[in-house]
Order: sequence, then structure tokens, then C-alpha cells
Amino acid sequence: MSKELIRLSDCFMKFDDDVILDHINLYINDKEFLTLLGPSGCGKTTTLRIIGGFQKPTSGDVFFDGVRINDVPPHKRKVNTVFQKYALFSHMNIFENVAFGLRINKVPVPDPSDPKRTRYVKVPEEEIKRRVDEALALVNLSGYGRRSVNSLSGGQQQRVAIARAIVNRPQVLLLDEPLGALDLKLRKDMQIELKRIQQQVGITFIYVTHDQEEALTMSDTVVVMNEGKIQQIGTPEDIYNEPKNAFVADFIGESNIIDGVMHEDRVVGMYGKKFPCLDGGFAPNEPVDVVIRPEDIDIVPEEQGQLTGTVTEVTFKGMHYDIIVDFRGFKWLIQTTDFSPVGARIGVKIDPDGFHIMKKSAYSGMFGDYSSYSSEYDELNEDRLEAEDGDEE
Ligand SMILES: Nc1ncnc2c1ncn2[C@@H]1O[C@H](COP(=O)(O)OP(=O)(O)OP(=O)(O)O)[C@@H](O)[C@H]1O
Ligand SMILES: [Mg+2]
Repeated sequence: MSKELIRLSDCFMKFDDDVILDHINLYINDKEFLTLLGPSGCGKTTTLRIIGGFQKPTSGDVFFDGVRINDVPPHKRKVNTVFQKYALFSHMNIFENVAFGLRINKVPVPDPSDPKRTRYVKVPEEEIKRRVDEALALVNLSGYGRRSVNSLSGGQQQRVAIARAIVNRPQVLLLDEPLGALDLKLRKDMQIELKRIQQQVGITFIYVTHDQEEALTMSDTVVVMNEGKIQQIGTPEDIYNEPKNAFVADFIGESNIIDGVMHEDRVVGMYGKKFPCLDGGFAPNEPVDVVIRPEDIDIVPEEQGQLTGTVTEVTFKGMHYDIIVDFRGFKWLIQTTDFSPVGARIGVKIDPDGFHIMKKSAYSGMFGDYSSYSSEYDELNEDRLEAEDGDEE
């Protein structure tokens, strides 16, 4: 069993009159890979800065190993940070970039003339060499020490930034969107790499991203945030399979979210019809949000469908088709390997485990209809093209 290492207890943060963090309660276990995930402006970086000691919460406490550390400055915390803009020193070679933190740090040793006292000395040169070499090997850059920073690709520079943070042997590494500047392919490679490094070094990673796939791929625990509030904490599987509200369901992957009613345990109603499901524990006839993932829907001949609708859009995605279907004005996304042309009348079937039932929340009715699917898709494509334009590899 891992033990708790860091705890944020009722952390509240205000800038001027704006509430930035709204009573955050969170603990992080030793050696855990925990990710703060949420849209821009939701308070991820602020949370990280509070853990790193760069910012103090307006109220609430931060604990490290059971000790309150609100007033401990950043350099006295056993925490190191890798920022998105990792700013390597371009006048130093790679070895010196990684060695930098060791050179400016002094380490405590007992004073030979008075054993009760501690002296602070520089890290010996042989130790610096050994540790820098170790750190470079860890990020697969052995033998690169003498090269100039400017000769490296974006991905390699990112590795140097990680080596530079790890060489100090922090107990916790804070990473704020460290892969944000890399193109998609490189980002995916680095995700696997980072996870390997974390497991190999055996330290705690607190990772910030707004990319849900990245969060699901790497984390032991995902913390979904929105508007300064924690929406859900869980394993990637929990978050994907059992989203707590419409915000989480929408933010984590694609979801159709439909107004429904729980008639009784294991019977949900939508569109005036009853469907068997696996959920229970709601009041009789309680209004609910029903989540159906696009991959959990089977297309069947119209007469065999639990519901029938009309195909309004089809996009070929390589592995599958994205099909938009209009069910009485509410548009669903279906992901399927079976082609159905625009205009076709189709039936759909959903197995009982394809329904996920959520309590109504402040986010009900805001997400989960795919009427604006094409414009969202165009925007995504534009983002991707821009990212590729900026690629320096
Ligand atoms: N020093 C500051 N003064 C005033 N407002 C701030 C300050 N720092 C952050 N904020 C505000 O706090 C909110 C949360 O910011 P934060 O940087 O934590 O968001 P984030 O989740 O990291 O977003 P992003 O994904 O864009 O980096 C934002 O509305 C931001 O404008
Ligand atoms: Mg941020």
C-alpha cells in the first residue's frame, strides 16, 4: 500500500474578486502518477504552484508527509518542476544544463571539527559527473553531453529538461503541460517515455494537461477539474466508465448525453421508451442524465432497433466511421465499422452495460448533443494543422 505524501486540505484561492480554486481537497500518494486534467483556466497551474510553494492559498493548508508546509519556500520542498517553457540555457552544453541544479546546490555534511554542526559543501565533481550521466541515460541521451542545446530537436530538448529536474532527486516532480509544444506523434512517444521514467526512478509525478487522452494513457489517478472545482477523482477506467456528471462525461472522450428517467432499478426511460440497464439506487422516476458512448451503439435494421433515426453525416476515420444520427431532433454520435449512407433510416441497439446513468447536475443539458459536430471537427482539424506547422522536427 502506498502512503499519502501530499495533501491539499480545503484550499481556496482568490485573485482580486475571482474565485480561482474553490475548496480543493486532494491527497497524493507516494510514487503515484497523478494528473490534473481540465480545460484552460480551470486552475490546474495554480494548484501545481501551490504544491510547489510558488503560491500560497488564500485559505486552506498544504501538507507534505503529514507536516504543514504552507510557509516552506519552494527550494526547501522536496519538489521539482518541469515547465512547459523549459528554457534550457543555450550558452551551456547539455551536460552543463543538467548539472546546473547540482552546481548551485550545496549539500549538508557533518562538520569534522564539531559533529553537532552541519557544514554545507558543493557536490563533488565526480558525483556530479556520475549523476548527470545517469540522468542522461534515463532519458535516452547518453553520449549527448557535449552537444549544444541548439542542435537538439524539440523532443530531445524536452528530455534534457526532464533530466535536469530529475538529477536533483526530488521526491516529487511537478510537470506543467511538459509536452504541449511537441507535435502529436512525438507527444505520444514521450508519454510512454515519461511513464517509464517515473516507474524506473520511483518518484511521485504530478502532471498537468488539458488533453484527456494523455491523462488516461499515463496516470494512476486522474483529477478532473472545471472552474476551480474538482469534478471527479479516480483511475482512468473509473473516469471513463463511470463519469460523475455531464461535464466529466463530455470532457473525457465522446459521449451522447440524453435526458432520461430511472423508472426503477435497472430500467431507464428515454424518448418515452424503457430500456434495461445495470444501474440502480435512484428514487423511483428520478430524472437522470443517460450517457451512451458512441462505440457502445450497434446499428441494426430499422425494424429491429430499440430506437430509429436518420443518418445526417458520415465521416470516415480510418478505423471506423463517425456517424451522426438524428433521433427526434437530438443528434447522437455513433462509431461503427458498418457504413450507412446519409439519409438512411437505421435502428440502434444498446446492451444494458452500454448505458451509464448519472444524477442530474449543474451541467445537465449543456453537453452531449452532436448537432454542432461538423464545426467542432473542423476546429479540431485546424488546431492540428497549426500544431504541425509549428513542428520543428
Ligand atoms: N497571478 C494571477 N492573477 C490573477 N489571476 C490569475 C493569476 N494566476 C492565474 N489567474 C487566473 O486563475 C485562473 C486559473 O488559472 P490557471 O493558470 O491555474 O489555469 P490552468 O488550468 O492552468 O489553465 P491553462 O490550461 O490555460 O494553463 C485563470 O482564470 C487565470 O486567469
Ligand atoms: Mg496552466
